[in-house]
Amino acid sequence: MCGIVAYVGNREAYPLILKGLKRLEYRGYDSSGIALLENGELNIYKKKGKVTDLESELNGKQLPATIGIGHTRWATHGEPNDVNAHPHYSNNRRLAIIHNGIIENYASIKQNLVGKGHKFLSDTDTEVLIHFIEDVQKETGATLEAAVRLALKEVVGAYAIVVMSIDHPGQLIAARKGSPLVIGVGENEYFLASDATPIIEYTKDVVYLDDYEVAVINEGKLSIQHLDSTKETTPYIQKLEMELETIEKGGYDHFMIKEIFEQPRSIADSMRGRLRADDAHLQLGGLNDYLDKLAQADRVVIVGCGTSWHAGLVAEYMFEELARINVEVEYASEFRYRNPVIKENDIVIAISQSGETADTLAAIELAKSKGATIFGVCNVVGSSIARATHAGAYTHAGPEIGVASTKAFTAQVTVLTLMAIAVAKRKGTISEETYRQLLIELETIPSKVDKVFENAAKIKEIAFIFTYARNFIYLGRGLNFPVALEGALKLKEISYIHAEGYPAAEMKHGPIALIDEDMPVVFLATKDSSYEKIVSNIQEVKARKGRVIAIVTEGDTLIPGMVDFVIEVPNTHEILTPLVSVIPLQLLSYYIAVMRGRNVDQPRNLAKSVTVE
Ligand code: F6R
Repeated sequence: MCGIVAYVGNREAYPLILKGLKRLEYRGYDSSGIALLENGELNIYKKKGKVTDLESELNGKQLPATIGIGHTRWATHGEPNDVNAHPHYSNNRRLAIIHNGIIENYASIKQNLVGKGHKFLSDTDTEVLIHFIEDVQKETGATLEAAVRLALKEVVGAYAIVVMSIDHPGQLIAARKGSPLVIGVGENEYFLASDATPIIEYTKDVVYLDDYEVAVINEGKLSIQHLDSTKETTPYIQKLEMELETIEKGGYDHFMIKEIFEQPRSIADSMRGRLRADDAHLQLGGLNDYLDKLAQADRVVIVGCGTSWHAGLVAEYMFEELARINVEVEYASEFRYRNPVIKENDIVIAISQSGETADTLAAIELAKSKGATIFGVCNVVGSSIARATHAGAYTHAGPEIGVASTKAFTAQVTVLTLMAIAVAKRKGTISEETYRQLLIELETIPSKVDKVFENAAKIKEIAFIFTYARNFIYLGRGLNFPVALEGALKLKEISYIHAEGYPAAEMKHGPIALIDEDMPVVFLATKDSSYEKIVSNIQEVKARKGRVIAIVTEGDTLIPGMVDFVIEVPNTHEILTPLVSVIPLQLLSYYIAVMRGRNVDQPRNLAKSVTVE
């Protein structure tokens, strides 16, 4: 949440920072701002709204700076407006800061500073931090770098910050705790950002800052120190593997539709090098040393949020069915504030696309403190969650920029399927034949997903019919129940239509009261072990005149005669069904949202990476 970008070098900072903010806009988009050191002056430009609103405001201005900081905001403290937008100034207007995260003890620090005469312009916690740094500098006579360190030691909360000073025109000071920060290392130039997307155009050499590290870039030199020591650590420069095309729309109207259509490739990428059906090879490199531990675990606890939580629910069915392991799936936000019973023999699997979700990160720390072994299933390489876990497997879906998660979900499900099969094989809970069958079938999934796309035009027609529906219900059983939840989440987050997902059998315990001729009901009704049961549930809805859209297996002749609309998906092994049955739901919500004129890639109130609890 919130995107930060900074630059120091020989290029013009403004266009570079502006472009970077556009790339990071998925992290927050209620206001933005840029601070530049220009001809001995510190100038801050801020605007409520999208980055393009800031751009229009600055259109035609001469902004010759070669050092600057920029921010795109997702409001936490203070409403979205020009004043609350970052960057923020110190009291003497000689320092500026950008910040991603939350300073929890800002109120007490502010009170103290107000007592010393500080005047605040905004309602933000960030402005308090820069005033505090200024105050420490004044009180102790410390250098700016030392003052930043001293202030951060007093701060409770999470932050990634960059500070710039009129008195040090070649210097940027950055620090992180709990919010991501990447430093791009160019030739005599440095780029700082919340993720690597604003950087890859200029350099592939990056340093991921760790929690409690402070980086100082001064006159072309980067030095990194731990917050608690003045001993320098040697920056570990990594090569980015990301390509520029992966973060551009490539001819599509939105990132979301590009990412939906990328799924045959992203699913294949998440299996690449891990699975070869012809010689029955299955290996997850990152988990090799831990597979025995997983096989011996009494219990697996899966934690995640939103779509990642849904992927966890799919995994629950797979681990129990194939590997006979007791699985519990927990919302990370609930888990972290309970006093959960965790034993040393438990395995906790944390699922996260961004790898930065604050609740998931906190759940990991809690489980770790109780002695559990933690596996991560993350998409963003080098992310905080990936680094906080003992072992794990990346999903390799490539950058997901649309705020609504699509390809990350199918990649998570793919990796979790590989894990479940691998551990089932190790435990001997599946036959050799089932093992081989599953591997063969998994390899066909990318082409089956491709086949679902042949129905895109039909799904668009259905979307047109239901564009102005006010509610939707999604029903499924077994592995299709989490898919129903995911379908409902996709629809509500991008179209703002109220939608509920339920296990189909639960309908008669309450939600059936909602069914009438105005209620669209999406049934996940593929040919699997609960097919007959779901057929009965469809009849219950039709008897009450509900309008049914059914996702069925190709060649189904029964359901099409009972419902209003059908969308076919290819037949596959029951365990793998979610990988194909979720695709029409993603397309349906996308088309409905577009027809309603919604901002599909940046739905209101949301942000891609939820780094606040
Ligand atoms: C839904 C969506 C969110 C995320 C959730 C967890 O489309 O994107 O519900 O799934 O915020 O995010 P990650 O997976 O990054 O931990």
